[in-house]
Amino acid sequence: MAKTKTTFICQNCGSVFTRWQGKCEACGEWNTIVEESDTNGIGGGPLRSKRKGRPAALMPLSGETEEAPRIVSGIAELDRVTGGGFVRGSALLVGGDPGIGKSTLLMQAAAALARGGHKVIYVSGEEAVAQVRLRAQRLKAADTSVQLMAETNIEDILATLGQDKRPDLVIIDSIQTVWTDMAESAPGTVTQVRAGSQALIRYAKSSGAAVILVGHVTKEGQIAGPRVVEHMVDAVLYFEGEGGHHYRILRTVKNRFGPTDEIGVFEMSDIGLREVQNPSELFLGERNEQAPGAAVFAGMEGTRPVLVEIQALVAPSTLGTPRRSVLGWDQPRLAMVLAVLEAHCGVRLGQHDVYLNVAGGYRIQEPAADLAVAAALVSSLSGQPLPTDCVYFGEISLSGSVRPVAHAGQRLKEAEKLGFRQSVLPSASADLPRNREVAAHEIESLPHLVARVAG
Ligand code: TYD
Ligand code: MG
Repeated sequence: MAKTKTTFICQNCGSVFTRWQGKCEACGEWNTIVEESDTNGIGGGPLRSKRKGRPAALMPLSGETEEAPRIVSGIAELDRVTGGGFVRGSALLVGGDPGIGKSTLLMQAAAALARGGHKVIYVSGEEAVAQVRLRAQRLKAADTSVQLMAETNIEDILATLGQDKRPDLVIIDSIQTVWTDMAESAPGTVTQVRAGSQALIRYAKSSGAAVILVGHVTKEGQIAGPRVVEHMVDAVLYFEGEGGHHYRILRTVKNRFGPTDEIGVFEMSDIGLREVQNPSELFLGERNEQAPGAAVFAGMEGTRPVLVEIQALVAPSTLGTPRRSVLGWDQPRLAMVLAVLEAHCGVRLGQHDVYLNVAGGYRIQEPAADLAVAAALVSSLSGQPLPTDCVYFGEISLSGSVRPVAHAGQRLKEAEKLGFRQSVLPSASADLPRNREVAAHEIESLPHLVARVAG
């Protein structure tokens, strides 16, 4: 019998320790280290192969190539995020908070693929078959050829999949529920999650099926255990949403076969997820006209323009250290814009609380939002509402100059489509459309913007 060794593994980052400790030295998280007994060296113990290595063929870098064969779901918002469909023989992780709609999304994808003539197997370790059927009925997916399996043991799952004549897509819902006989740890621990993922990824490569692993994120925002899975799979998608809002965003975090800056937007309804083809309309839907402190940012998500409202509230502070609160944007980036406003434009905000919010719970990752943020801040401070038909974009440098950003033309076209008639953007912006209906006010530096807004 193999000797059982006990190791302590951080459930956040997967680091292995010989003793328990309160804080993981590798990732800095508290209370994430859990004892796992390890019989097969899965947790990092030494392994020794019984067979001698065989030399493999060495290949030149040039030679025949081929496009990764893909399985297209026909759900445009999903196919865009995967980079044109699920890739055969690859493994993909879909992460997200419990209850966000991962099972719903994947059941809809499974049904769409089955309708397209693909063979789909849905392995549910979280819910009983009856429960999955009930959801399928609600999603009008019950009449498709999707096959169900309520199983959590990885050996049993692989044996069942092996029986089947080559499924095109296998969904494992969720990776935290699967367990292998080879390790003694409880399901959901790093050892089990890693062993299960390894086996399923190997299955994907050898069978040519696309395998989708569902992973829950814990309250602290980590995929419990599966942070280690992120490194193993070919692609990682996150399904996100804000409490109180019905829309959901599917975001690529990693993709070996496509771009990583695409998003897919959905709306949760009582019959499942509905695709949102024009996210700008959704994000601008709740707009409060004429209020000071609101600026519309013309942003880009991958290949697609997205317009969102940025709201700022600047108010005199009673605190020794004024409050800086940001939702949906980067805190250090806000600090930078505030510092530039103070240093180069004489806008004093040191005695003011500053609240910044991106409407609808949306999250912006582009520095191009700097100019819109600055406009919202100055507007709130001065009490002057910004024109409601105007969009803003541009990056601000520490010297106070406004730098051009990519895709200016596409941003303006989207603004025009949604009825905007003016824009404030960096001078020397490239590829502006010639016959445009949106006036372009080009500015070179932040003081020009302040003069425009407050003047
Ligand atoms: P679910 O897909 O089970 O989430 P996850 O797998 O990420 O844990 O979705 C759960 C939520 O979605 C639940 O609160 C109910 C809601 N929902 C709808 O609003 N409409 C629907 O058609 C379905 C199936 C679920
Ligand atoms: Mg689920």
